[in-house]
Amino acid sequence: MNAPVMQGLSLNTPSYVKNARLIAWVADMAALCKPDQIVWCDGSDDEYARLCQQLVDAGTMKRLDPVKRPNSFLACSDPSDVARVEDRTFICSEKQEDAGPTNNWKAPAEMRATLQPLFDGCMRGRTMYVVPFSMGPLGSPIAHIGIELTDSAYVAVNMKLMTRMGKPVFDVLGADGEFVPCVHTVGAPLAQGETDQTGWPCNPTTKYIVHYPETREIWSYGSGYGGNALLGKKCFALRIASTMGRKEGWLAEHMLILGVTNPQGKKYHVAAAFPSACGKTNFAMLIPPKGFEGWQVTTIGDDIAWIKPGQDGRLYAINPEAGYFGVAPGTNQQSNPNCMASLEKDVIFTNVALTDDGDVWWEGMGEAPAHAIDWQGKDWTPQVAKETGAKAAHPNARFTVAATNNPALDSAWDDPAGVAIDAFIFGGRRSTTVPLVTEARNWTEGVYMAATMGSETTAAAFGAQGVVRRDPFAMLPFTGYNMSDYFQHWLDVGGKLEAQGAKLPAIYCVNWFRKDEAGKFVWPGFGENMRVLKWMIDRLEGQAGQGSEHAFGLSPNFEDIHWQGLDFSAEQYRTVTHIDHAAWIKELELHAELFTQLKHHLPRELEETKAQIEKRLAAA
Ligand code: OXD
Ligand code: MN
Repeated sequence: MNAPVMQGLSLNTPSYVKNARLIAWVADMAALCKPDQIVWCDGSDDEYARLCQQLVDAGTMKRLDPVKRPNSFLACSDPSDVARVEDRTFICSEKQEDAGPTNNWKAPAEMRATLQPLFDGCMRGRTMYVVPFSMGPLGSPIAHIGIELTDSAYVAVNMKLMTRMGKPVFDVLGADGEFVPCVHTVGAPLAQGETDQTGWPCNPTTKYIVHYPETREIWSYGSGYGGNALLGKKCFALRIASTMGRKEGWLAEHMLILGVTNPQGKKYHVAAAFPSACGKTNFAMLIPPKGFEGWQVTTIGDDIAWIKPGQDGRLYAINPEAGYFGVAPGTNQQSNPNCMASLEKDVIFTNVALTDDGDVWWEGMGEAPAHAIDWQGKDWTPQVAKETGAKAAHPNARFTVAATNNPALDSAWDDPAGVAIDAFIFGGRRSTTVPLVTEARNWTEGVYMAATMGSETTAAAFGAQGVVRRDPFAMLPFTGYNMSDYFQHWLDVGGKLEAQGAKLPAIYCVNWFRKDEAGKFVWPGFGENMRVLKWMIDRLEGQAGQGSEHAFGLSPNFEDIHWQGLDFSAEQYRTVTHIDHAAWIKELELHAELFTQLKHHLPRELEETKAQIEKRLAAA
């Protein structure tokens, strides 16, 4: 199989790679992309060190001070390449209705015709890395394999931290195992003899993040950043996997997974979905507050969950990833000590500031340095920031770090069997209307809560501030098919298990972000969210107080929450929990707007649930 692909270009296939379909595909892609050479990644520490050094030599990364931040690097991207590009992300299903109204769609044949000339010769002058990765514990019945071809060494080293990457994947793949083919190029071919001068090659004008759900392929062109380029994450683990799950009866979700152990040693597992900017990483690494001595919260995953029904009728979840690609700004010792501890060594930072002593800094990390080099390579001082508003770190600056750096990592995080989920939590950022916590009375009501969840936009992110952006299941940019069919899939998964006599996980809706009349957050959040978690567990155990039913579901009364260690008055509690009827009537009008947008295949049960809420509101 090592016959040259083209004149002078050898496939270099290692002898341990036995999968004929894989080898043929790599040969085809090499013939199309025309790299100078092909390197098969083995995932070893030596390879990681070698590629990192290569990136330092090329000016893409800087090595941080080895004492302050051992074995850590800073990469700064091109200013045009700093985030996922949702408007350049496409679901190319055969039929437009299968992509649905929330996705960009192009017919596969049309998209292939567009991409063909772009990919032809796109890797000229560069190396094609063959990156084998397992999403989920190697060999787990819940896991799946992907192979990413990329011309970015930065992507290869990030994939080493973010996934189970390397040689053992080929053993699991064997001679005829299945894999999801993922092709990525920065879209910046070099002329003969030219070397890259940019440090962050990308295509400044043309970007495509393309998914073909029927053939389970991912093609990414023009960006080197995050979810656009690390194709295991949003592209595979959410968009393609959601379509696989629909076909095969499982769930691919934008959810963190937590273990919660009570002082008696009994352990529960919850999976929680939050849109961006809702404290998801903080919740994933929560430290129980005062008054919760003996409780332990451990992280299984911080962003994505794959959930499959087990033989016993329970839903088993794995974290398909093996690392965290988290937002740095705002992370500090108070907001997330476990995260700060995770970042002490072995980290790739992207788009944070470089301090004069060779360390990193970002807004919200703590005291500002007197001087730093900002993410764009310019001098930055607190004075400059005051005068011009210049940010030292880009607001979407990131860290990439292996999960094994997390001091709160759950002992079962790598268990191929996964963990049985006891409860699902859905939460958005709402300054009004939505109570601190509500339990759904049944699976359908929970699916309704998740389908209608929304988040108020924060400054800069999506234009106008304070507008509610509906983000069903926190999956708006990530569902690889028609959103209403996705709702139906959730109803079907629950319905099928219930018909088998299984006890389904409870479903909760949370909102940490209610404000008082002065516009201040009332709920302290962070570790104090443990109080809400404990109430959920008390409910699961049948040990909680009665709570109060209202139009939307059931919420705890003040006395149902464990308050030891926190001074929080009944009046404050009312501010974060009361149901404002007028606000709910308006809220339901917004739900109606969403349902109009999603009317094609919208499950009848959701319309019926809405009608029931309206009826209860009218009666109250
Ligand atoms: C992420 C996101 O980066 O959800 O995880 O945007
Ligand atoms: Mn995410």
